[in-house]
Amino acid sequence: MDNHRVGYFIGSLAAGSINRKLAKALVRLKPETLEMEEISFRDLPLYSYDYDADFPPAARAFKEALANVDAVLFVTPEYNRSIPGGLKNAIDWASRPYGQNSFTRKPSAVIGTSPGAIGTAVAQQSLRSVLSFCNSPQMNAPEAYIQFKPGLITDDGDVTVPDTAKFLESYMSEFHAFIDRVYTVLPRSR
Ligand SMILES: Cc1cc2nc3c(=O)[nH]c(=O)nc-3n(C[C@H](O)[C@H](O)[C@H](O)COP(=O)(O)O)c2cc1C
Repeated sequence: MDNHRVGYFIGSLAAGSINRKLAKALVRLKPETLEMEEISFRDLPLYSYDYDADFPPAARAFKEALANVDAVLFVTPEYNRSIPGGLKNAIDWASRPYGQNSFTRKPSAVIGTSPGAIGTAVAQQSLRSVLSFCNSPQMNAPEAYIQFKPGLITDDGDVTVPDTAKFLESYMSEFHAFIDRVYTVLPRSR
């Protein structure tokens, strides 16, 4: 398998985010051949196409970070049956200026956790629709809807339920295989 750099988005800005815990767990359980770095969108202003002629420094840094990774992993909560506004704002920045969409041909995967039984399923479907429009090849399976119960993942990203740890480990290994497959058929754009 080839080595790949994966940028990950954490959809939540909350200090105690359970999705941040999940992201930490995924970093711990990834194959050695994946290098992972968080791409933060916290400092981005609200997007408007008025910025397209001259992106502010935070948006330039954000686009640069995306250009430097081979694939993107979205670890997101569900807010009101969709993705949080901050994440949608970040995707809008990434997709512009017109003709410079950062997601084109960039493989992606979606995962998330919530205390509810459907584990962010509705938000993930909404995100998948956005990523389709942004021309990102998405890993279709496995899907991952993680119901968060207290203590499931520690603050350091240790998964306390062995079956869940095993599933998350195989999820990351499938993502690695998917990235390999995408780059087998699509030439790299960088
Ligand atoms: C504004 C808001 C809307 C929410 N809407 C949903 C929802 O639609 N579905 C759901 O399962 N949980 C919903 N929740 C509960 C979240 O799943 C829960 O707060 C979770 O901790 C969010 O993930 P985070 O800690 O990573 O931010 C909502 C929470 C907030 C603050």
